[in-house]
Amino acid sequence: MALNMNAIGEKIGPFSKDYSWKDAVLYALGVGAGFSNLEYCYEKDLKVIPSFSIAAIFDMLSQFGIKSEVNLAGILHGEQDLIFHNPIPTEGTLTTEGEIINYYDKGKKKGALVVGKSETRHSNGQKLFTSIVTVFSRLDGGFGGENAPKITVEFPDREPDFVVEESPGADQPLLYRLSGDIFPLHADPEFAKISGFEKPIMHGLCTHGYACRALLDNLIPGEPEKARRMACRFSKTLYPGVPIKILIWKTEEGKAVWRVLNAENDELVIIDNGIFEYGDIPKDEIRYDNQVAIITGAGAGLGRAYALELAKRGAKVVVNDLGGSRDGSGKGSSSPAGKVVKEIKKAGGEAVANYDNVATPEGGESIVKTALDTFGTVDILINNAGILRDKSFLKMEPENWKAVMDVHLNGAYNVTRPAFKVMKEKGYGRIIMTTSAAGLYGNFGQTNYSSAKLALFGFMNTLKLEGQKYDVKVNTVAPLAASRLTEDVMPPEVFEKSKPEFVVPMTLYLCSDRCPVTGNVYNAGIGCFNRAAIVTGPGAVVGSGDEIPDVDAVAAKMKQISSLKNAKEYFQLNDQVGDVFTALSSPPEEGAAGGDDAEEAASGFDSVAAVFDAMPGAFNAGAAGGVDVVFQYIIAGSGGGDWSCAIKGGACTIESGKHDKPTCTLKIDAGDFLAMMSGKLPPMQAFSSGKLAIEGDIMKSQLIEKLFKM
Ligand code: NAI
Repeated sequence: MALNMNAIGEKIGPFSKDYSWKDAVLYALGVGAGFSNLEYCYEKDLKVIPSFSIAAIFDMLSQFGIKSEVNLAGILHGEQDLIFHNPIPTEGTLTTEGEIINYYDKGKKKGALVVGKSETRHSNGQKLFTSIVTVFSRLDGGFGGENAPKITVEFPDREPDFVVEESPGADQPLLYRLSGDIFPLHADPEFAKISGFEKPIMHGLCTHGYACRALLDNLIPGEPEKARRMACRFSKTLYPGVPIKILIWKTEEGKAVWRVLNAENDELVIIDNGIFEYGDIPKDEIRYDNQVAIITGAGAGLGRAYALELAKRGAKVVVNDLGGSRDGSGKGSSSPAGKVVKEIKKAGGEAVANYDNVATPEGGESIVKTALDTFGTVDILINNAGILRDKSFLKMEPENWKAVMDVHLNGAYNVTRPAFKVMKEKGYGRIIMTTSAAGLYGNFGQTNYSSAKLALFGFMNTLKLEGQKYDVKVNTVAPLAASRLTEDVMPPEVFEKSKPEFVVPMTLYLCSDRCPVTGNVYNAGIGCFNRAAIVTGPGAVVGSGDEIPDVDAVAAKMKQISSLKNAKEYFQLNDQVGDVFTALSSPPEEGAAGGDDAEEAASGFDSVAAVFDAMPGAFNAGAAGGVDVVFQYIIAGSGGGDWSCAIKGGACTIESGKHDKPTCTLKIDAGDFLAMMSGKLPPMQAFSSGKLAIEGDIMKSQLIEKLFKM
């Protein structure tokens, strides 16, 4: 009989199970606890061994076998992953819901894997644990599915930190089975013989329980509530009465790897690939439990990184991705979104894939419908899908202009509209637009992309006002991250450092219920975060406001009109118009917008040499404690030359020429250097656009901004 492909994703349960302290103690006795572990065996101050969880949901385990229609004659419990969200109370009702999340095909002769996932909640309302079970089915391989990803657990090349010897009794399975797994293989000698064994065998999960006790006793003695995760692979069977050794290596703070050996034959690994994670459950962490997030373009790059982290922190995620090419041409594919959903589920999260195109209104509707049909609502929308069609302006044909507008700008409109409707009705929502430095500041060859990206800024400005009353906050992120969109745009050194994960904390903060702002734009990348805004200078009133001024009168006041000194940011149009009328009745004085001196400072230096002359005076000795660096500048072009700047012992020495041992060397053209030093060219932009090359210790070059207040 073949595996039932339709069973994937079908809900199983909910199953409920009442339990009392006696069940927890029965389990503890079944996995070898006794007077030496009285905290698990005596109702006074009783605690529950976390691995009790898997024994308590045995019904779900058998359902994975039944629903997948595996050949029951050839199945074994292959792997078990338990993620603990909250300590297990000593009594109550457990409610478990699950689904089969995947099948893997190891080949006709090698068999198949059925992966099932379930979540268990307690009658006190808390989510207690997630279980991911892999059932190995010897007789179901060769159905043409994909093979399982190879996951290896690294064991340190040294003696274990703890070796725990245990002797499960010859009758142990008879006691353990009373906790739920009453399969005859562990009790009935005849059945065991028919199944090819000399006699009944130990339950793998019973040995697993022994291991759990050993991990608790050595890593978090008396504090089972600190267990966060326990994962392993069952590799060999064991007869009751055979002693075992549990080997434990601490690998880092809060993490250990472990395995169980047959102590009569140290070569024989009974349970392998063990992982144990432990530590306090952070009380104040930002979470998204019971929230539903839609992320467009989440099959790769930034969207994937957002999806994984949101799911890890409790959100139910709609992973949308058309799976198209970088320029949006050709047919889409379901695999990028599908893969991310599998990753999320494998890590214990909840997600559903959607393959619609954001560029059409129907696509947008259907993405939101997927969220409503699967999870019942939408709380978070991240408009992230994107393509590129870069060309210099005269080569920018209408189809390339339109394709980029359709995905970025119209795409955000298409998905946001139906999502906003749901958010407005429920009185809560978080919407993220994704803009770009190309839109905020401009980038050669990207007129289409810059226009679409900055249009999203305007979209946010107005939607934030419409959402304000309903607690729908709309913010925008301008990321900088390595992805297929940037692989040939960024210099290799920047690409290397720009993991999408660096952008995630900013976007996730803006998506959280703790986000206090709406209508803000943030740059985020490589650990740097800052806000970008549209600001307006005080300007000048030309004439009296009654008669129309002529062009010469405006030209005469251009310095004051252009100055950004005392510039301010407006939350909405009305505020700005209000200031226009105030200015007419009381015109800003010349100094308010910056007189000649202010203008001078803003325009900066008139020669490269002047910058280096000014450097000692601009040196911020207070920021130079413990700093020992030499910056070498190589300035090309007219007025350029070589200068070194050595910082040591809180002092700064500038010399012309080349230093023997620079910490890093900055190479830039004279014009760009002057633009950078007078604040017109942000250093990060100079670097990412290739105008500024940095050799040597790139990270140290980031000190320059702190060390000099130019
Ligand atoms: P990416 O190419 O890795 O991811 C974009 C995803 O969007 C792809 O998986 C693609 O299949 C999907 N997509 C494209 N068109 C779609 C459509 N019509 N419907 C549904 N999905 C579609 O790129 P990356 O870098 O992760 O980009 C994410 C967003 O961030 C984009 O909006 C991009 O413009 C923006 N951005 C990225 C920057 C960076 O440094 N990586 C810089 C500034 C902005």
